[in-house]
Amino acid sequence: VTNVGICGASGKMGERLTRLLSEKKIPSLALAGSFNAHDKGCSSDMFKGIDVLIDFSSPNAFTTYAPLLSEFKKAAVIGTTGYTQEQLQNINNLATQVPIVMAPNMSVGVNVLFNIVEQMASQLPADFEIHVQDIHHKEKKDAPSGTALKIKDHLQKAHPGTTIPVDSVRTGDVTGEHTISFYNEGERLELTHRALSRDIFALGALRAARWVVTQKPGLYSMNDVLKGEL
Ligand SMILES: NC(=O)c1ccc[n+]([C@@H]2O[C@H](COP(=O)([O-])OP(=O)(O)OC[C@H]3O[C@@H](n4cnc5c(N)ncnc54)[C@H](OP(=O)(O)O)[C@@H]3O)[C@@H](O)[C@H]2O)c1
Repeated sequence: VTNVGICGASGKMGERLTRLLSEKKIPSLALAGSFNAHDKGCSSDMFKGIDVLIDFSSPNAFTTYAPLLSEFKKAAVIGTTGYTQEQLQNINNLATQVPIVMAPNMSVGVNVLFNIVEQMASQLPADFEIHVQDIHHKEKKDAPSGTALKIKDHLQKAHPGTTIPVDSVRTGDVTGEHTISFYNEGERLELTHRALSRDIFALGALRAARWVVTQKPGLYSMNDVLKGEL
């Protein structure tokens, strides 16, 4: 059995993770501890008893648990978004000691989308204009979404130097929608992913947790997890 700890267990994602673990969606995983912001930090006892930490919280949580992951050499799955460059550097540094999967979007569909948009952009002439739109619920703290930023990175690999505007809409209770539009005179090509349930992210995080505990230290993506499972 792989023992899982959750950072952000009382949040929207944490609640899904807790439920999927209790339903034994992945039978080899068991919930072994959790904490939230209102717990004012995490305990070293919890870290002794887990194999992997799953984090869906806020960027500043990382500084509270990183020393414990390092001390007890535990793996991590980071789904939180909105990190600064400095925070990302700290995550990279920790990944030299422990295996970490970090992905702004843990759904299978969006990770296929990341690959497809790059291929699509590379096949379209440079005079096509590219736009990205992300639509999320009003409580989402970061804009653009981590997913939209990663889509933009992939598009820019195909067309370095091109300006790609990202339009973020925060409305209602939308779980998450991303659209990439390629425009030229007389035609428009669009790709959309719609998340219809948060379970797709939670299940992806659990699959990542099962996979990451068998890996060497390093920073991995969700595509590494999906490839590794094939
Ligand atoms: N990668 C993906 O696939 C994916 C999918 C969906 C969401 N996300 C990201 O996941 C994060 C959480 O989203 P959500 O919708 O679940 O948010 P949420 O409903 O606001 O829940 C946030 C949770 O994190 C806890 N938290 C906040 N700061 C903390 C800290 N410093 N230490 C420990 N716990 C802390 C909160 O605790 P309190 O209740 O005590 O405040 C709460 O339990 C966001 O960054 C979001 O963008 C990623």
